[in-house]
Amino acid sequence: MEMIQRIKNIALLTSGGDAPGMNAIIRSVVRTCVFHKVKPFGISKGYDGLIKGDLREMNARSVKGIINKGGTILKTARSNEFRTKEGRKKAFEKLNENGIDGLIVIGGDGTFTGGLIFSNEFKFPIVGIPATIDNDIFGTSHTIGFDSATNTVMNAIDKIRDTASSHNRLFFIEVMGRDAGHIALNSGVASGAEEILIPEENLGLDRLIQSLKRSQKTGKSSSIVVVAEGDKTGENVFELKEYVEKHLPEYEARVSVLGHMQRGGPPTCFDRVLASRLGVSAVEYMLQGENKCMVGLKNNLVCLTPFDKSIKGITKINNELLKVSDIMSI
Ligand code: F6P
Repeated sequence: MEMIQRIKNIALLTSGGDAPGMNAIIRSVVRTCVFHKVKPFGISKGYDGLIKGDLREMNARSVKGIINKGGTILKTARSNEFRTKEGRKKAFEKLNENGIDGLIVIGGDGTFTGGLIFSNEFKFPIVGIPATIDNDIFGTSHTIGFDSATNTVMNAIDKIRDTASSHNRLFFIEVMGRDAGHIALNSGVASGAEEILIPEENLGLDRLIQSLKRSQKTGKSSSIVVVAEGDKTGENVFELKEYVEKHLPEYEARVSVLGHMQRGGPPTCFDRVLASRLGVSAVEYMLQGENKCMVGLKNNLVCLTPFDKSIKGITKINNELLKVSDIMSI
């Protein structure tokens, strides 16, 4: 590996919403630093912690026993102060005081936006690792945490299906995804949902009613409708339920909002492996002089995407999966 500039001390932080697999990334980044004789420093509570200078030196042993743990041992936050120039100046001073010459940021869109502004302002090397359950980052087929969250959702829906079918009920299950329907679409297909409602496609209330009518006619006694929280078909999942009950009074409907349980729990094998791979790459790219970019996965190969592209780019919904879902719910 050719090193363009000798970086001696790398700090890392987790920021934004947590995601299963963040600990596996921390472990990978810290151990890769140690492997390359670079000192790793863990920053607590994201950019807020950086502004306060809340950081500590880590070593290979300080990340033992965490690969299988959900959450983030470094804690996370959404920082308002880092959005201000003064806040970022304080953060820069703290990095200098501690002799840090590279920063690895783990998170989503907001994390990379902050990183890009900071890196431009202070000419400071930053590399990002995508970790969010929403899978809505351009430049990687998978964000770390997405696979774990969809498996959690699938397991929850399997359980809800048991009670739905015992009572011949219709269930509306709200899953996370403020702006993106990836969790809804994947977990919906995996759990045999009747309909999947996502922010990217407003199929309309009419279609939902028609689909449920068809289900009844074809002899289905219970149904699952997966609704991403950002879906625009109705006001919200409770309104959807009321609308359906009004137009199809023969249905006994219930709502289940899965909420933050989707962000917790041990990461899946896929997320642990991806976290380990991207952690190694992020450190090695940084040591090779890469800056203002994010490591990601494309066709199962690690790749780099500049922050400005990953921030502006939009992840597309998988139309093939939409088609599969349609055919399966016949
Ligand atoms: O992590 C992303 C996400 O799960 C979104 O889908 C969701 O809307 C949001 O986080 C909610 O997070 P919080 O309650 O932490 O603001």
